[in-house]
Amino acid sequence: MSGRASKMFRRGTRPMPRTHPADVAEGLEHADGLDGAIRSISSTINRILGPGPAKDVLHGVPAGHPAHPPLTDVPIGCWMSVAILDLLPGTDRAAQTLVAAGLAGAVPTVLTGWADWSALHREQQRVGLVHASTVGAATVLYAASLVARRQGRRGVGRMLGYAGLTALLTGGYLGGHLAFRQAAGANHADQVAHLTSLGWHDLCPADELPDGWPVHRRLGYISLFVMREGDEIHVLADRCAHLGGPLHQGRIVADQNEDTCVVCPWHGSTFRVSDGAVVHGPATGRQPSFETRVIEDGTLQVRAVP
Ligand code: FES
Repeated sequence: MSGRASKMFRRGTRPMPRTHPADVAEGLEHADGLDGAIRSISSTINRILGPGPAKDVLHGVPAGHPAHPPLTDVPIGCWMSVAILDLLPGTDRAAQTLVAAGLAGAVPTVLTGWADWSALHREQQRVGLVHASTVGAATVLYAASLVARRQGRRGVGRMLGYAGLTALLTGGYLGGHLAFRQAAGANHADQVAHLTSLGWHDLCPADELPDGWPVHRRLGYISLFVMREGDEIHVLADRCAHLGGPLHQGRIVADQNEDTCVVCPWHGSTFRVSDGAVVHGPATGRQPSFETRVIEDGTLQVRAVP
C-alpha cells in the first residue's frame, strides 16, 4: 500500500466520538468493572430467591408476560404527574399523595426487576445494574421529597422531586435500551411462526431418533428440538423463548404431573415437551411446538401449531 493510501486508510478508520445516549448505553454493555458487583448481587438473589413458584410469579409466568414492564407504569405515571402538579398552585396535597403512591408502586416493580435481572446475559446485567441504580436513586429522592413535603418544606420537596425525575428518566432510558436494543424480556422464539410455511414438512427418518433423548434437527432456517418418547415424537422450536438458549442441550425432567419437560441449559426455563407450555420461568411465553406424524416410508413430518 502506498504511503498516501495508508494515510487515507488510517483517516477513514478513526473512531468517531460517541456522544449519542445510545452509544453511552452501548458502552455500559462492555463495562466489565461492574462484573464483581454483578456476581455478588446475582448470588445473593439466587440464594434468597431460588427457582420455584415465588420466582415464577415475579417473572410473570402466570400472566404469560413479564411482570416488570407494566409495573413500572405505576411509579413512572405517579411521579410524572407530580412533576406537572408541582407547577400548579394549590396541588400540594395531591402531589404528596402521588409521591407516596409511586413509592408504594416501586416495591413490586423493584422485586420483579431484580428477579428478571438475575436471569440475563452479562452485557444485559451491566446495563441493568446501572438502570437499577439510577431508578433506586430516584426512589430515594422521592422518599426524601415525601418527608420534606410532610414537614411543610414544599420548596425542598419539589426540588427533590425534580431531581428524582431526572434520575427516573435516565433509568427509564436504560430500561428502554435493555428491552429494545438488547431484547431482554422479549420473546426470542416468536419468529418461528414467520419462518415456517404452512403444511407438513419432511424432517428426518423417524427410526434414527433415540428414545428418551433430545436431538437437534433443522427445518430450513429453524432449529428444532426433537424428542422421541416411545411411540410419540415431540418437536419444539430449539431456541428458548427467554433468551434463545439451545433446548436440545437441556435436561429432561418430569413435572409434578409426571409430564416430560426440558430445562433450558442457560437460565433454567422449563417447558413441557408435548406442547411447549411454560412450567417454570424466567421464560413467560410458550415455546412454539409442532405437530408430528410418520408417513409410510418412515419419514417424520412436522407442521407448525398455530
Ligand atoms: S435462554 Fe434463558 S432460560 Fe433459556
